[in-house]
Amino acid sequence: MAAQYKILVFGAGGMLGRELMAAPAPNAVSLIGLTRSHADITSPEQVERVMAEHRPGLVINAAAFSNVDGAESEPQAALAVNAQGAGNLARACHQAGVPFIHISTDYVFGGGNQTRPYLESDPPAPINQYGLSKLRGEEQVRAACPRHLIVRTSWLFGALSRNFIHLMLELMRTRPGIKVVDDQVGCPTPAGDLAQALLRLATMVLDQGAADWGTYHLSGPLVINRYEFAQMIWAEARKSLDKDMTIEPVGSEAFAAPAKRPTYSALDCAKIKNRFGLALADWRPELARIVKTLQEAEMRSSV
Ligand SMILES: NC(=O)c1ccc[n+]([C@@H]2O[C@H](COP(=O)([O-])OP(=O)(O)OC[C@H]3O[C@@H](n4cnc5c(N)ncnc54)[C@H](OP(=O)(O)O)[C@@H]3O)[C@@H](O)[C@H]2O)c1
Repeated sequence: MAAQYKILVFGAGGMLGRELMAAPAPNAVSLIGLTRSHADITSPEQVERVMAEHRPGLVINAAAFSNVDGAESEPQAALAVNAQGAGNLARACHQAGVPFIHISTDYVFGGGNQTRPYLESDPPAPINQYGLSKLRGEEQVRAACPRHLIVRTSWLFGALSRNFIHLMLELMRTRPGIKVVDDQVGCPTPAGDLAQALLRLATMVLDQGAADWGTYHLSGPLVINRYEFAQMIWAEARKSLDKDMTIEPVGSEAFAAPAKRPTYSALDCAKIKNRFGLALADWRPELARIVKTLQEAEMRSSV
């Protein structure tokens, strides 16, 4: 069947972008992935050029300045991509009359004394430059393109691009013991599951030509801290590692990271379930699959 819908994906070379391009797309959908070399989203002219060239039915923005620590020393660069870049895409979508799905982050929230998952209606209060730049991006999207869905997600992991799991596996393989912070609570999210859900969301919007536009949360269902996440990774990793290893829970002050992280940034995802029927599944089987895939790749590269 000929594809009925053309979706343009910005940030196609990143962690989420790669998963979007690798995900089984619904029959009616053809995906066109763009990297920075095709179009720098900080340039309105480049964005307009690729929009005119491809004439998509919908746009997904997975492009971002995502280096949380780097944004502390380069706040203007983070704003250029995460705020002005998002704004450029939103304006181009509005001008072309196409809906815009923009990806944002749990780091628009600050944690503080928070003890229950954040609702979309909770006031954002970022505590680092990355979170601030993403919040400014949300504002630009809302102002420029009424037909938008801002999807906030959190703690992405997957096999295709380097993330927390890669780091943990490296440390677990090479060290007798590791330290992991237990004062950052959030919702790990498999990038592949998120990608599939986003494509379903896009298809629903294209099928219906309308949606309940606005801001939504979509992340994995488990609320855990990073130490607990590391323990779950180790439970899988040790199945094929012939060694013992200790994981010590520590506070964030044990690492001198340039950017502060929220103590709590779990997202309540009931709204997107109620409005669109979308919810991500328990990701533990997916974690097992990813750890196994990465360990097998490591074994192949070391022989
Ligand atoms: N990773 C997480 O844990 C996490 C958590 C919550 C939310 N999010 C959000 O999820 C989305 C996807 O994140 P991700 O982890 O997939 O990020 P990522 O792996 O860093 O990918 C972002 C992509 O955007 C591209 N990009 C950067 N600047 C650009 C520009 N000026 N023009 C065009 N492309 C540009 C990057 O290309 P280059 O490689 O050339 O720079 C990269 O391929 C982002 O909106 C992020 O804020 C991520």
